[in-house]
Amino acid sequence: MRVPEAALEAALDARRVVVVTGAGMSAESGVPTFRDAQTGLWERYAAEDLATPEAWDRDPAFVWAWYLSRFGAVAHVEPNAGHRAVARWAALADVRVVTQNVDDLHERAGSRDVVHLHGSLASFRCARCETAYAGTVDVPDTEVDRVDPPTCPRCGGRVRPGVVWFGELLPLDAWEQAVALVEAADLVLVVGTSGIVHPAAGLPAVARRAGAAVVEVNPLETDVSDVAHVVWRESAAMALPALVDSLAPALERRRGQA
Ligand code: OAD
Repeated sequence: MRVPEAALEAALDARRVVVVTGAGMSAESGVPTFRDAQTGLWERYAAEDLATPEAWDRDPAFVWAWYLSRFGAVAHVEPNAGHRAVARWAALADVRVVTQNVDDLHERAGSRDVVHLHGSLASFRCARCETAYAGTVDVPDTEVDRVDPPTCPRCGGRVRPGVVWFGELLPLDAWEQAVALVEAADLVLVVGTSGIVHPAAGLPAVARRAGAAVVEVNPLETDVSDVAHVVWRESAAMALPALVDSLAPALERRRGQA
């Protein structure tokens, strides 16, 4: 695979790298994206029935069952070569990950301190008192339409998924960390996001204004493509290992000299 020269140069020059990822990062692990034609979750389900505070208020058991099935599905897939390449790169250079994904595939590939802008499928909290829920969560063996959510041991409220829904604010600490990271970065690699959902979609522009090189890895054109200095029309699991393979000898030499 040919790595675009400009992407390779930007990666070799960069002292600080941030990889900003979206659903396409996990697509080759078998996790469906949201907006891809045919396979995207929002092509098959109505986001307003599942991923809004109003949906939760209307039918918590329906929303809970859907998130449980996504939680269960992610537990059965593995990080792909793209996730692993990002973790390998971070062992050789200052590379951080900011993700919109609610799966834990970056962590399972070995990335540390991943900034999760949209929360996590594996974290739960009380919808009323906000206390984190550490109790067990039973994933049904078969697809079911409704499952009653557990009850908060502290206040008796309903336990909800620890993800960000449409109309909700991002966790402030994660957002502030993400902005600080991209503002300090020399290179921001934007992988597998349609760049439609704000504020996360604004990070590449923040990075560019602050002086970073912006490289997009995505098989298709997106709302971020215009902001990128380099567009690489390739999939995450193909592009990222090729990039890191090309970089590794120089980064290893540099590390040996330090
Ligand atoms: P989308 O489904 O909107 O976009 C997925 C992107 O990944 C598209 O641009 C695809 O072209 C690209 N893609 C598909 N396969 C790929 C691959 N193998 N390698 C690289 N890219 C690939 O997903 P997001 O942009 O992540 O929010 O969506 C943003 C947010 O919208 C999500 O975090 C979620 C959703 O509603 C919340 O739930 C709050």
